[in-house]
Amino acid sequence: MTHLSFSDRFAKKFVADSILDQQLVASGKAKETLLSKSGKGNEYLGWVHLPSSIASSELTRIRDAAEAIQSHSQYLVVVGIGGSYLGARAVIEAISSPFQNLEPSKKGVRILYAGHHLDSDYHAKLLAFLETKDFSVNVISKSGTTTEPAIAFRLLLSLLERKYGKEGVKNRVFSTTDASKGALKKLSDEYGFPTFVIPDDVGGRYSVFTPVGLLPISAAGLSVNKLIDGAKAMESLLCAESSPEKNLACLYASYRNAFYSAGKKTEVTVSYTPVLGYFIEWWKQLFGESEGKEQKGIFPAGVVFTTDLHSMGQYLQEGERNLFETVIHIETPRNDLYLTEKPEDNDGLNYLSGKKLSEVSEKAILGTLIAHSDGNVPCLEIKLPELTEETLGELMYFHQFSCGVSGYMLGVNPFDQPGVEDYKNNMFALLGKKGYESRQKEILERLKS
Ligand code: PA5
Repeated sequence: MTHLSFSDRFAKKFVADSILDQQLVASGKAKETLLSKSGKGNEYLGWVHLPSSIASSELTRIRDAAEAIQSHSQYLVVVGIGGSYLGARAVIEAISSPFQNLEPSKKGVRILYAGHHLDSDYHAKLLAFLETKDFSVNVISKSGTTTEPAIAFRLLLSLLERKYGKEGVKNRVFSTTDASKGALKKLSDEYGFPTFVIPDDVGGRYSVFTPVGLLPISAAGLSVNKLIDGAKAMESLLCAESSPEKNLACLYASYRNAFYSAGKKTEVTVSYTPVLGYFIEWWKQLFGESEGKEQKGIFPAGVVFTTDLHSMGQYLQEGERNLFETVIHIETPRNDLYLTEKPEDNDGLNYLSGKKLSEVSEKAILGTLIAHSDGNVPCLEIKLPELTEETLGELMYFHQFSCGVSGYMLGVNPFDQPGVEDYKNNMFALLGKKGYESRQKEILERLKS
């Protein structure tokens, strides 16, 4: 059984039925291309049936490693960039208390992040903080050669060796990488670190249901079983539903492509809870890196309301009409509060007494949907009854599947990322890495002129 639902009540009037029908037909074909593995990038479709095929022995190994981390560490530093950390962070921040890291006395491992940028100040402060803490590291890199996590890991490993000795680091470093190749695999084998494998046929941004996501999520004390259960239920729903108008991923992909063809080239994903901020980052990476190629693709943006109604609200209501919104609507919060009566009513809020905070939020959601669609911004809604590991598993799988379908509808390969290499190659050339001499020469010539 799945919990996710999709609503087009504030979007339907913007698309003619005939256009939506055409897109639905195209989405059905794209879905078949995906499932028959006959499209571009078909060597990276291991994620499609991953939730239903993950071995219980793999889950046990992940939980055992998580327990080992919990038994001796106050902190786990997750070292990775892009698809190698965003999925785990999205789930951990969505489900854990936002104040957990501020309560050092409470039990449980706190998750910190490194290797997702090159800021020396951040890394220096992280190392200084960890100097007096018990910590472990989960270093994650599919290629095993990405510069940002490799640099962070070198710094953290040197601190670990100084604190715990060469033997001691063996049960404090957990590496997640390719089965056989890459510098990280080689180094892990040399040290004897426990190693988890990212399957060859699963790309970074589709890897949250592999050890890339599951080990940090489990170490944070969250249920990977429930996450996988949610993803599995969504996998069977989306793979089995052959009618595009009933298949929620096809419906979402059809609306996206209909809006894109009509010049609405930016999709703004909206959350009404700040704990979904990193979910939005994960979603942006998934769609941005999958669709943005061959000079095409919807630009994925994100906002958290009501905060951003006080910064981006004006633009969304009255700015350039080249965008549409997709609202992630969590219908029931995990905790709620009642607003009570105040005899003097000196804040003027007595008209709300007896109401729950969630009722106020619901009215903000509805009021904004009405206002933005009146302002000619189509608004799609993705609804979850509540935010749990299970519903988040559904939501993430839903987006992966929708992204594959939508990318094929656009005519691109949703599973490669050739454009990401360009900045890396220039950086390597500028840093004087071996093998990049001619590029370095060419760049330096260009900078002179
Ligand atoms: O989605 C992707 O493939 C990328 O975002 C990668 O996850 C990211 O570049 C990190 O790569 P790697 O895991 O090889 O270090």
